[in-house]
Amino acid sequence: MDLTINKKKYSVNISPEDMLLNVLRHDLDLTGTKYGCGEGACGACTVLINGVAVRSCITKATSVEGKEITTIEGLASHGKLHPVQQAFLNVDVFQCSYCASGMVMSSVSLLKKKPEPTEEEIITGMQGNVCRCGTYPRIIKGIQEAVK
Ligand code: FES
Repeated sequence: MDLTINKKKYSVNISPEDMLLNVLRHDLDLTGTKYGCGEGACGACTVLINGVAVRSCITKATSVEGKEITTIEGLASHGKLHPVQQAFLNVDVFQCSYCASGMVMSSVSLLKKKPEPTEEEIITGMQGNVCRCGTYPRIIKGIQEAVK
């Protein structure tokens, strides 16, 4: 089966039951996408499918054949960080950073839908992403910084 990840084609030999997260991390060594809960509840495994945030731990890899998959490794372009990545660094969002790639991917998806979200909309839009260090106020600040 062929998967298009970060604008690159990968041929993978997988079973119909394989989840996208496992294929990314174990078959393709794209380990920027993290395993948290494995049940769709924490957001650590978030990637973009055709620009929309999805939980790769509960997404069958076979279901995304032919779609554009973007992981944290594919967000920067031409040697420049994505504006959300840069904004998160500018305001020093992260502590342990385990949730970082999922937070960034969900933020990118949110800003695609709502380019100038209110604080309320940021909170609602980021509800599915958990940060065990509790850096939520800084994540909100980071998204607001990315809008500037
Ligand atoms: Fe996928 Fe937690 S690891 S949502």
